[in-house]
Amino acid sequence: MKHALEMGIALLVSAIIGGAALAQEGDARAGLTLAQDTCAACHAIRRGQQSTNASAPAFDKIANVPGMTAIALQASLQTSHRSMPNLILSTEDRRNVAAYILSLKAN
Ligand code: HEC
Repeated sequence: MKHALEMGIALLVSAIIGGAALAQEGDARAGLTLAQDTCAACHAIRRGQQSTNASAPAFDKIANVPGMTAIALQASLQTSHRSMPNLILSTEDRRNVAAYILSLKAN
């Protein structure tokens, strides 16, 4: 009985830790889908492309800004885009698209 309880707690703890790690990393595939639907109208979303909107930085450029992190990207997506005030993403979408952008980092 005691063992079963300990096992249960251990499983619960690892599920929480595992879930948190997953949630923080974001899903780059889902991010790509979102980028295709929502961002590609202006930004180059794949490596080596030119942005449709010349003032929108290409995602691979953003990814390769020195020191760029998922946290920084998510924060910049939370503040409104100067040129597109209507762009509102859910926390999950921000996380996923940040994971996708960072997947374009060279190296
Ligand atoms: C209507 C055109 C347009 C769309 C759609 C668009 N962007 Fe942008 N984005 C811009 C422009 C222009 C800039 C540069 C000037 C600015 O920040 O407004 C920019 C800048 C950025 C930056 C850099 C912000 C910074 O602080 O330097 C990020 C990151 C970004 N966009 C991500 C996204 C993501 C992710 C999407 C899709 C969910 C998206 N954008 C959709 C036009 C767009």
